Amino acid sequence: MSLESLEQDILAQVAAASDEAALEAVRIASLGKKGAVSERMKELGAMAPEERKAAGAALNVLKDKVAEALSARKAALQELALEARLASEKIDVTLPVRPLQQGTVHPVSQVWEEVVQIFGDLGFAVAEGPHIEDDFHNFDALNMPPEHPARQEHDTFYFNEKPDGTRMVLRTHTSPVQIRTMLSEKPPIRIIAPGRTFRSDSDMTHTPMFNQIEGLVIDETTHMGHLKWVLHEFCKAFFEVDDVKMRFRASHFPFTEPSMEIDINCSWEGGQVKIGVGDSWLEILGSGMVHPNVIKAGGLDPSKYQGFAFGMGLDRVAMLKYGIPDLRAFFEADLRWLRHYGFKALQVPTLAGGLS
Ligand code: PHE
Repeated sequence: MSLESLEQDILAQVAAASDEAALEAVRIASLGKKGAVSERMKELGAMAPEERKAAGAALNVLKDKVAEALSARKAALQELALEARLASEKIDVTLPVRPLQQGTVHPVSQVWEEVVQIFGDLGFAVAEGPHIEDDFHNFDALNMPPEHPARQEHDTFYFNEKPDGTRMVLRTHTSPVQIRTMLSEKPPIRIIAPGRTFRSDSDMTHTPMFNQIEGLVIDETTHMGHLKWVLHEFCKAFFEVDDVKMRFRASHFPFTEPSMEIDINCSWEGGQVKIGVGDSWLEILGSGMVHPNVIKAGGLDPSKYQGFAFGMGLDRVAMLKYGIPDLRAFFEADLRWLRHYGFKALQVPTLAGGLS
């Protein structure tokens, strides 16, 4: 093979090398110890001095050309590899955020938000109170004096007696927030108080810690018609139905007079509960007109002020709305349960966008 065709051959291989490994193979096959160019160099020894001089010079030129081509190709390949990597690692910051795959919003948090939104729209503010309550706020001020039988129904968690003989309790309902609000705010009062409550009780529908939402409206002319309208509006918005029938059942709570438990109509077709259709009834909350003794304990004049209150189980309405069968699972922190019943953080139902 002539030197020219050897050169063409090698340069063509250099140009065709598609990555650095292929290029290295071309280098070894040409300039390596046993490469084509090196083999030609070895032949020089057998030549006559004049011939060797000319052939040696030509071979050196070829060697330089090949080395130069190899390094130019290498630089080009590195450039190409970098461009490919930059292209593959590019982040388009204008794309929407990828949804969070890991965490979910707990159904109680979700329902809590929904309820706050609905009552917020109706002009209610959110009020809070402590989980550890004194006897006055949890019982006495709510018209449950020390020997009142209703105290027994609450399965209360008591703390150890203090030196003065009093005992703190884990609040058994959110109703103490009624008292705290009346003592700290002037009417008109329009609040809801969502929060944790505690009773020593545990089965499919009871857990020692659960969530309630309290409602309280105090004004000079607030009457049962307002109570009925507010709760009807709430039920329609919360369960996302055009209408729902409500049944007011006479009941008894020490802190309201009269007291009513409220049922809404539903059907149980196919073992699934549907709200607002059907002839079955489902109890969803306790309510009534605030007892004059409670208004008095709240520091207000019952001959001037009146109003209504209600209390609803938040976990219970979460179970009803989202078809969750067992309350105990709410508080077991089982990831499989949370993934199944939880809401994706960026896709939670909202009032504006439709709740579910
Ligand atoms: N506190 C009551 C309960 O826990 C509910 C309730 C609140 C009833 C307000 C009437 C008025 O069962």
